[in-house]
Amino acid sequence: MNFFRGCTALITGASSGLGLEFARQLAPLARTLVIVARRLDRLDALKADLMRNHPQLSIYTYGIDLADDEAIDGFLKWLWTEGLRVNFLINNAGLGDHGEFQSADWSKVKQMLDVNIAALTKLTHRLLPMLRSFETAAILNVSSSAGFVPVPHLAVYAATKAYVTSFSEALRAELRNTGVSVTTLCPGPVDTEFGEVANRGEVREMQSPEFLKISADQVVHSALRAVANDRARVVPGLAVALMMIVVCAVPMLLLRLGLNVAAARLRRTE
Ligand SMILES: NC(=O)c1ccc[n+]([C@@H]2O[C@H](COP(=O)([O-])OP(=O)(O)OC[C@H]3O[C@@H](n4cnc5c(N)ncnc54)[C@H](OP(=O)(O)O)[C@@H]3O)[C@@H](O)[C@H]2O)c1
Repeated sequence: MNFFRGCTALITGASSGLGLEFARQLAPLARTLVIVARRLDRLDALKADLMRNHPQLSIYTYGIDLADDEAIDGFLKWLWTEGLRVNFLINNAGLGDHGEFQSADWSKVKQMLDVNIAALTKLTHRLLPMLRSFETAAILNVSSSAGFVPVPHLAVYAATKAYVTSFSEALRAELRNTGVSVTTLCPGPVDTEFGEVANRGEVREMQSPEFLKISADQVVHSALRAVANDRARVVPGLAVALMMIVVCAVPMLLLRLGLNVAAARLRRTE
C-alpha cells in the first residue's frame, strides 16, 4: 500500500457507508484527506474521530450537494484556494432508486444522473490536470455489479453504473503510461445506507441474498489493494465475482428472457 503513504485523497460521499470506510482505512497512511458530502455534521464528526487516533493527518471537510453543478465549481475553487493538491480521487458518492421506472419520482432520477454520472465525470475532468502533474496518481471510480447487466426495477441506477464502468475503462486506456491509474470498483450488495435511500416508501423493501453480501470493510480493503496493484477492475467477494462471470457469459437472447421473468415477478410482488 505504498502509494497511499503521504497521499492527498479526495473522497466523495464520505458521510456514510463505503466513503466513510475509505476515510477510515486511508487515515493511517494518507497525509491529507478531503472528505465531502451534503451532511457536513457527519463529516465533522468523522474528522474529530479520525484526528483522535491520527493526529498527523490533515482532514478537510466540505459540505456539498454534488447534484448542483455550480456547487461543484465552488468546491473546485475552494480546493485551489486551500492549496490542496489531490493525487488520489475517489469518486464514491452515489445513490439508487428501487422500483418501476414509470412510477419513479423524476427529481430522484435526475439526482441519480447528476451525482452518479455528471458529478463523477466533472470532478474527474477538472482534476485530471492536477492528477497528471504527479509522477503517480490514481482515480478510483465506484461503480456496481449492477453495471454489468440491465436490472429491472433498478433500471436507471444500473445504467448509470454501466456508464461509470465504461467511462473508467476507456479513461484508463487513454491514461496508460501517464502515471495516472484508473480502477473501477464493482461491489455487489453491501449493508450501508444505500438500501434505505434507494427504497421508495410504497415499494417492497429491496432485499439481496445474504450469500452475496460482504462488509464495507472488505469492499474497501479489496478496492485499495486493487488501486495499489494498478488493477483495472475489482469485484469484491468470491460469490459476486463468480456470479458476474456467469452473467456476462450468458448470451443476450437468454439474458432478455431472464430479465422478462424477473420484471414480471417484481410486478406481481408490488
Ligand atoms: N451499498 C451497496 O450495496 C452498493 C453496491 C454497489 C455499489 N455501491 C455504490 O457505492 C457508493 C457508495 O454507496 P454506499 O453503499 O456507501 O451508500 P450510502 O451509505 O448511502 O452512502 C452514499 C454517500 O453518497 C453521498 N451522496 C449521495 N447523494 C449525494 C449528493 N447529492 N451530494 C453529495 N453527496 C451525496 C452521501 O452523503 P450525503 O447524503 O451526506 O450527501 C453518502 O455519503 C455509491 O456510488 C453506490 O452506488 C453501493
